[in-house]
Amino acid sequence: MSDARFVGKTIVITGAGGNFGRAGCLFFTKRGASVVAWDNNESALMETINEVRSQDEANYIRIEGYTCDVTSEDSVRSTLESVLSDFSRIDMLWNNAGYQGEIKPTLEYDIEDFSRVMNINVTGAFIVLQSVAKIMAGQSRGEQDSSHPFSIVNTASVAGLRGTPAMVAYSSSKAAILAMTVAVAKKDLAPHGIRVNSISPALIGPGYMWTRQNELHASSGSPYFSSDPEQVAEAKIGGVPMKRLGTIEEVLKSVAYLLSSDSSYTTGTNLVVDGGLSGGLKA
Ligand SMILES: NC(=O)c1ccc[n+]([C@@H]2O[C@H](COP(=O)([O-])OP(=O)(O)OC[C@H]3O[C@@H](n4cnc5c(N)ncnc54)[C@H](O)[C@@H]3O)[C@@H](O)[C@H]2O)c1
Repeated sequence: MSDARFVGKTIVITGAGGNFGRAGCLFFTKRGASVVAWDNNESALMETINEVRSQDEANYIRIEGYTCDVTSEDSVRSTLESVLSDFSRIDMLWNNAGYQGEIKPTLEYDIEDFSRVMNINVTGAFIVLQSVAKIMAGQSRGEQDSSHPFSIVNTASVAGLRGTPAMVAYSSSKAAILAMTVAVAKKDLAPHGIRVNSISPALIGPGYMWTRQNELHASSGSPYFSSDPEQVAEAKIGGVPMKRLGTIEEVLKSVAYLLSSDSSYTTGTNLVVDGGLSGGLKA
């Protein structure tokens, strides 16, 4: 399943021990990329590495795992030193690690958890973005680079566009990712040949995250949700114009589009993958 868009490219994926990240490691290695997988959960990361290495794919190139805490500048710096000595260059970054925080109505939301969510989802994403962009900028020709060969995709969420009840910290953090994407993409990184876009998925499943989130919403005490997880699920899907969940594969195809030269004239945008849930013109 070799894919010319990724053959010979080195892609850093953060949150590689999680659902999206693990699927992304499989997706991009199968297509001929070398994958640099990061997570602070060492055992989840190793499961990803072992799963990828157990694939008997003719196009399988290379994956290495690095235990890295994205909220620590020191951890990111030393990880990048190892990455550069192992791979020598970085072409693409999927800045994807994240934490949803607790699911609680605003009046009860814990301030410490709010800070934790912002620290991982916003500060952590920025530390990774800035550190990798410095390396990309050093690899670019320095002057105005019209080919824009480097690409970064940040994982935002529809929660950042429309707000998800009982998830104030998460929604705020993902709105910050949308603004960060626009802020860094244009005057700051475009001159270095680096494109930066974000992806905003919603209602992806079936699977652990979908089921777990419906259970948490049902037990959150929010008057917005039924206390029955199945009714929560039904109501959510009822609000999607396409009347179904999205798949991780559909998320990955959109990430691949933004990372690759298929989107070579696109920077500072957000690609929404939500079956039409959040669509419409905004005032
Ligand atoms: N699953 C969905 O439906 C959905 C929808 C919209 C957006 N998202 C976003 O997509 C991304 C991935 O989601 P997922 O469903 O795979 O979640 P997940 O919880 O399965 O994976 C997140 C991964 O990030 C890692 N991580 C957390 N803190 C970290 C840190 N400080 N340093 C390094 N790694 C850290 C975790 O260990 C975990 O492996 C997240 O940013 C999430 O907010 C997910």
